[in-house]
Amino acid sequence: MPLDIVVGTQWGDEGKGRFVDLLSAKADYVARFNGGDNAGHTVTVGQQTFKLHLIPSGIVQPHTIGIIGNGVAVNPVILQSEMKGLKDGGVDISPKRLQLSYGAHLITPAHLALDKAQEIARGSSKIGTTLRGIGPAYTSKVSRQGIRFLDMLDRAKLKTKIQKQVAEINLQLTKLYQHDPLDSGLVAEEFEQYAGLLKPYISDVSLILNDALREDRRVLAEGAQGTLLDLDHGTYPFVTSSSPTAGGALVGLGLGPGFEDRVIGVTKSFQTRVGSGPFPTEITGDLATELRGTGEQPWDEFGTTTGRPRRVGWLDLVLLRYAVRINGINELAITKLDVLSGFDQLFICSSYRKNGSEVTELPYGPGDLTGFEPVYKELSGWHEDITAISKWNDLPEKAQAYIHSIEELIGVRIRLVSVGPERDQVIDRNPPELQKT
Ligand code: GDP
Ligand code: IMO
Ligand code: MG
Repeated sequence: MPLDIVVGTQWGDEGKGRFVDLLSAKADYVARFNGGDNAGHTVTVGQQTFKLHLIPSGIVQPHTIGIIGNGVAVNPVILQSEMKGLKDGGVDISPKRLQLSYGAHLITPAHLALDKAQEIARGSSKIGTTLRGIGPAYTSKVSRQGIRFLDMLDRAKLKTKIQKQVAEINLQLTKLYQHDPLDSGLVAEEFEQYAGLLKPYISDVSLILNDALREDRRVLAEGAQGTLLDLDHGTYPFVTSSSPTAGGALVGLGLGPGFEDRVIGVTKSFQTRVGSGPFPTEITGDLATELRGTGEQPWDEFGTTTGRPRRVGWLDLVLLRYAVRINGINELAITKLDVLSGFDQLFICSSYRKNGSEVTELPYGPGDLTGFEPVYKELSGWHEDITAISKWNDLPEKAQAYIHSIEELIGVRIRLVSVGPERDQVIDRNPPELQKT
């Protein structure tokens, strides 16, 4: 079957972008299906580094067609600047290479203002959002007051809708949150300009993708965020407002089930989270600083979108097992094994203990993890630099043992092992004749 789906298994930033870039080498279409510019996907190719928030990471490969699906929420200001950045970096970004779903919803300045006002009002129980207007934009969608790319095809309709939306959100901003209102006329004017620019890109991407899949052309679905940030299945309410899981790929692109081949779950070799919410295996102090890095290296654990230091901890296999189930993951890809080089001991959380009993599955999902104590399996670390290793057999035995332990405890094979941010710093454990991607 010609559809591969890449999802994050943790709280985002697993390194999905680098794998999407790699897997895109054999894809005809690369399609983003959820989230908005809250995402930050970094792709490193030689001297060039692309930081993408909205446009699928696969666009960096010259032969692919990038798709933004109906499940994505798009801030046209960011889209336009990202298109310009790619163009300046030598990437063709004409409508031949990028298509936007008529059903994708627009993030407006009113959503940004509301996101900020709501976070301030939440005080100490703030979610720690990226302040990109994501929650309010999906709220507009669900409450059937959203504005879609389709509305950009009719300038008069767009103007009326924008003015109505801004007026309604102004009421909330001023009456509920005591913030200044926005000028709806100015917002409408700005969006009319974007409509002119983006019109040639707007199309029925569900039709394009379904036709392509029926002709056996390869489609790679690229998720933003991760399973534990999923609105339905994540650590609610500390989640994002879309569906980053495999089911979200189908809904967010207008596909039915049955086309899927590989459902690839990307996990980091350890755990990170940016923003508030439960994190049972979180560590602090010197060890955490060592794992996070100081910010000198581009891959150190600081948010791509917000620059915030990420919370760090040991790999949590209870949550990974959960992610495998929620997404139907049939293959895992692991990143940043190189970052673990140099630790004497490593820990992986194999189960939790609550009220004296050990659990490997969560009775009521990951929302409330109070009282669940991680039970760790201790493993010996390795000290070799592994960043230049391209064959599984050349990895230090202890690094192999780390990967094997995860596989044994999860029951899913880890096929791809990444040992650095570069395109070629990946070990594919399949024999060459089976390396179709
Ligand atoms: P995404 O949001 O899941 O696409 O991940 P991000 O791009 O936000 O964060 C991953 C970061 O780690 C990026 O800076 C990548 O270039 C980098 N990266 C990915 N894989 C590896 C790896 O195996 N080793 C190292 N050192 N860095 C990596
Ligand atoms: P990628 O695609 C990591 C987090 C925010 C916050 C919560 C809700 O790069 O993996 P939102 O702005 O979505 O309303 O914030 O979700 N968050 C991410 N964390 N990586 C991301 O994307 C994220 N997108 C949102 O930090 O905790
Ligand atoms: Mg990221």
